[in-house]
Amino acid sequence: MPTALITGISGQDGSYLAEFLLGKGYQVVGMVRRSSTSIYERIEHIQDSLTIIQGDLHDQSSLVSILEEHQPDEVYNLAAQSFVPTSWTQAILTGEVTALGVTRMLEAIRLVNPKIKFYQASSSEMFGKVVEVPQRETTPFYPRSPYGVAKVYGHWITVNYRESYGIFAASGILFNHESPRRGLEFVTRKIAHGVAMIKHGLSKELRLGNLEARRDWGFAGDYVQAMWRMLQHDHPDNFVVGTGETHSVREFCEIAFGHVGLDYNEYVVEDPRFYRPAEVDLLISDPAKAHRELGWEPSINFRQLVEMMVDADMKRVEQVKKQKQG
Ligand code: NAP
Ligand code: GDD
Repeated sequence: MPTALITGISGQDGSYLAEFLLGKGYQVVGMVRRSSTSIYERIEHIQDSLTIIQGDLHDQSSLVSILEEHQPDEVYNLAAQSFVPTSWTQAILTGEVTALGVTRMLEAIRLVNPKIKFYQASSSEMFGKVVEVPQRETTPFYPRSPYGVAKVYGHWITVNYRESYGIFAASGILFNHESPRRGLEFVTRKIAHGVAMIKHGLSKELRLGNLEARRDWGFAGDYVQAMWRMLQHDHPDNFVVGTGETHSVREFCEIAFGHVGLDYNEYVVEDPRFYRPAEVDLLISDPAKAHRELGWEPSINFRQLVEMMVDADMKRVEQVKKQKQG
């Protein structure tokens, strides 16, 4: 039975990846950072099947100890400060975790067992002010946020440890992927939750930032399978993972509100407070290499994703409303 270590297991992707690897017969070890409150919301349904251990990407010795004790065959480095706006207000922390954290884990692998396979959660945010449309593995990076800059570092240090030490280190350049487990601060979940609050009479409006930004949005459950496939490939490499389609925030609103019979124009307020100091206007992937070499394809299209998220929040909000009433 192979063993996988997932950093960031309490996050959106960590929860889907853990489910997927358990289904493949893996022993799954999940690293969580110490917290005074519960952080198991996304994994409580599988918690009994996981080995949860404490560690932090800030803390090199915790990483070394975890690798020594659990001897994983594969490490999936999903932990990061992943919210783009926070990367301006906490730029140094973002660099420490999202950039240098990658080196700390790679160093731990080099010291403990360089045969461990490593997956780095790289991001389409690295393409930023895009210099090519669509974006592929060879497209030059032009990051537009401290988060994007940190991810560029994480990407290149992954490539460097592959080339310097022969470590099986893969970099997955994943475009935005969403789900009902997405954090509430990200725009897709903010919209889905906002729609449910308005439909249930608990809110009157939804304040958003730039409605014209375009993203290549897919379903997180599909994307974690691409991560695993990268580590089963015959050599470590970089792969772009996305749907090859792009949609605006406005289109997301239109479908989400429309799904419950509402017109977004009556509820969405564009609020400059949510604008970013530097925006990423357009992302669209060319996932041909992942299709060709990994046999990976998305199974959920844009409309299905939007409707899945709205349906999930409609149920959640309804439950909370009932609890409050009764
Ligand atoms: P997420 O929901 O924000 O999860 C981030 C995880 O990192 C959480 O488990 C968080 O723990 C953990 N973490 C943060 N700082 C840490 C630290 N110092 N030490 C240890 N763990 C720490 O993010 P996600 O959407 O699942 O994304 C997973 C990864 O893919 C991230 O690296 C993200 O940057 C990258 N990515 C995401 C997307 C996307 O569209 N979702 C696209 C491309 C790349 P807590 O629960 O304690 O906060
Ligand atoms: N969060 C947020 N809130 N975004 C808004 C809002 C709002 O109220 N209104 C408009 N937007 C726009 C943002 O300006 C951005 O252009 C777009 O919606 C998407 O924002 P997010 O959902 O916050 O995601 P992101 O694209 O910045 O970053 C996500 O995807 C990256 C991959 O490209 C994160 O998951 C990153 O961790 C990931 O690497």
